[in-house]
Amino acid sequence: MPTRTERGGPFPTTVSAAPNKDFFVHMLVRDIELGDAILDLLDNCVDGIVRSVGESLKKDKPYAKYYAEITLSPKKFEIRDNCGGIPLELAKTKAFHMGRPPEHREDAATVGMYGIGMKRAIFKIGQRCEVMSKNKNDAFEVEITKKWLSEAENWDLPIRRLDPNEVTIDGTTISIDDLKPEVARKFDESKDAFVSDFRTFVSQHYALILQKGFRVKVNGVKVDPVSFELLGAPSVLTKKSGPRLTPYLFQGDIGGVDVTVAVGLYRRLPDEDEVEAEKEERASKDDAGWTIVCNDRIVIYKDKSRLTGWGEAGVPSYHGQFIAITGIVILHSKDLWKLPLTTTKRGIDQSSDTYAIVKDYMREGTKYFTKFTNKWKKFPDEVKKIYKSSELMPLDSIIESIPPSARTVVRATSKGVNSATRYAPDLPQPVAGSLDARVSFVRPKSSISILGEALFDDPDAKPADVGAACFDRVLRDIEDVK
Ligand SMILES: Nc1ncnc2c1ncn2[C@@H]1O[C@H](COP(=O)(O)OP(=O)(O)OP(=O)(O)O)[C@@H](O)[C@H]1O
Ligand SMILES: [Mg+2]
Repeated sequence: MPTRTERGGPFPTTVSAAPNKDFFVHMLVRDIELGDAILDLLDNCVDGIVRSVGESLKKDKPYAKYYAEITLSPKKFEIRDNCGGIPLELAKTKAFHMGRPPEHREDAATVGMYGIGMKRAIFKIGQRCEVMSKNKNDAFEVEITKKWLSEAENWDLPIRRLDPNEVTIDGTTISIDDLKPEVARKFDESKDAFVSDFRTFVSQHYALILQKGFRVKVNGVKVDPVSFELLGAPSVLTKKSGPRLTPYLFQGDIGGVDVTVAVGLYRRLPDEDEVEAEKEERASKDDAGWTIVCNDRIVIYKDKSRLTGWGEAGVPSYHGQFIAITGIVILHSKDLWKLPLTTTKRGIDQSSDTYAIVKDYMREGTKYFTKFTNKWKKFPDEVKKIYKSSELMPLDSIIESIPPSARTVVRATSKGVNSATRYAPDLPQPVAGSLDARVSFVRPKSSISILGEALFDDPDAKPADVGAACFDRVLRDIEDVK
């Protein structure tokens, strides 16, 4: 006999797990910052290029012919690119789907993998949108309206054919209006810093792509990439080069992902005052820390937390003394599921086995330089001499200066390292029993100020300078008496 519910109806054999449109339109957008959502649209442009140019990505400037122009204003958002466009077949079946069907896997070094970025960005920004695209002989326009957003059961979007002769460029334009009030406020350049902050954000997160030739304009202003450089030896190294200030380098294949890890110094070590300033967060530490790149997209920028190995497994926690240390991890794979990408593309999936192994090498490299700064902090004048024989070099030049013959081969492990080489720097050490020693003591600020005024006519003179001047003066007096 069939079971009955308390109210007397037949007991159900299934419950509904159908998606709610509201989940995508109003809820999912809370997981992503506005700037990250716009970067998702830029990611799609670059993915478009990667699909179009394929193997010639290995060229020096593979993105040179391509651009994206972003317009942000309180009335309208637009992103226009010439990156190949959306193929009509893809638009019909996959591009506008919420979530990628499992059979839509690609064999290209893109970052699009979840099938949500474009839609989530549109829903985050506004309530009416037109996506216009031309790919080869097809041109079309898909419209998303406020009405469609509120229609729970309607999952079809109208598509309109455009005359391909009228749209000359293979590319995509996404125009959004009826902006959400909080977004419109941020896009008002005269009242909010979002637009200029967003340019900085692109210059950081798109640094590699911009260096490889891609051009991005935000409200008509070109975005220039930030550079990544490390102090290295300008000559080509051998195993017998002797102590030099050079970065740590690891390159290899871990679990099917091409990995490069480089860490070193990018500036002189901080003096005592600067370390103090760091503690009080007065100094800029923007350039210290780890940057992680997946298929050319920077997903972590200058991180100084446990995420990148600081403060765990023998690496000290980040603090002001380490302001001169920076590192970069470059991960590349045509199989995106092997990369530790999160759905927002601005973070690392920490459960990734590949990342766990990469992190071991990141920590190993970091330790060379935390030890270096520890050893040399007592000898600030001598360490300056070491800097004279090194220079700031871009990563490519660093890699060239450390040829395979200067590296050691890393044994393939069951952990997942398939093949790799590693260069552990032979960093200069302070000579044991050096002639100099550090004098350090604490005195009231008011007294330091009186001495600063007396010695330098400056009550705000640096405590270290005041202390050194007092020392030198007493020494001179004593020597004069002798
Ligand atoms: N500017 C563009 N140029 C070319 N194709 C695009 C562009 N924007 C979107 N597409 C197409 O639309 C599809 C859906 O984009 P969407 O960002 O929603 O998902 P995805 O990129 O596949 O995955 P993810 O959620 O990881 O970004 C893309 O896979 C791509 O085929
Ligand atoms: Mg995408």
